[in-house]
Amino acid sequence: DRRIRIAPSILAADFAAFGAECRAVEDQGADWIHVDVMDGHFVPNITFGPQMCRAIRPHVRGVMDVHLMIAPVDPYIEAFASAGADIITAHLEAGPHIHRTLQAIRATGKKAGLAINPGTGIDAVAHLLDMIDLVCVMTVNPGFGGQKFIHSQIDKIRSLRAMIGDRPIHIEIDGGITEDTAPLVAAAGADVLVAGSAVFSAGSVAAPEGYGARIRAI
Ligand code: DX5
Ligand code: ZN
Repeated sequence: DRRIRIAPSILAADFAAFGAECRAVEDQGADWIHVDVMDGHFVPNITFGPQMCRAIRPHVRGVMDVHLMIAPVDPYIEAFASAGADIITAHLEAGPHIHRTLQAIRATGKKAGLAINPGTGIDAVAHLLDMIDLVCVMTVNPGFGGQKFIHSQIDKIRSLRAMIGDRPIHIEIDGGITEDTAPLVAAAGADVLVAGSAVFSAGSVAAPEGYGARIRAI
C-alpha cells in the first residue's frame, strides 16, 4: 500500500537518550525509525556504527531503517544485519559494485535500499529494480541534519515513480522534510518521509507531545 509513512531520523535526537527517543517518537505515531550511519569518509561527518544499532534495537517496536553513508559498505553488512536492521540502505555512489552490495544485503534476509545523492540520476536504478525494496532520494547532500530541501529533486521523484510503477518498492525522501515540503514529495510519488530536525526540534523526551503534533503535521 502507498500510505505515507513518517520515519524520524535519530540524527536530530538526544544522542544520550536514543532508547527513550525511539520509544517517544513511536508512541507519538512514527512509522519507522531512521538511523543515519556516517563514517567521516563517504560523508564529512561521523555518527555511530552497528553497536549503536544493536543497543537501540530493543527500543524500536517497528521498522529499523538503517541508512549507511559509508564506504566501503560490504565489510559491514553482516554487522548491521545482526544488529537488527530491517532495511539496510547503501549509496549508489559508495563504490563501483552496488549490484553486489545489494545482493549481499538481500542474502542476509534483510530488505535492501538504494540511496542516491542529489547530483545522481535515476538511470542506474532501472537496472536494479529486481534487487531493491526501497529507493532513498536524497533531497540534501548527505552528512548533516537541518539542511535546506533541494527543490530540483522533485522532478526526479516523479520520474522515479513512473519507473517503479506498482512494483513493491518504497520511495523514501531524506533531507529537509517539513510540513511545507512533505506535500510536494508526496504528490510526486514518495511514500516514506524521513524527518530529523523537523520532528525532534518540536519536543523532547520530557515533552514528547510536540513530536506527535509535528508527525501529524507532516
Ligand atoms: C542526512 C541524513 C538525513 C538527515 C535528515 O545526511 O541522511 O536522514 O538526518 O535530517 P533533516 O530532516 O533535519 O533534514
Ligand atoms: Zn538518512
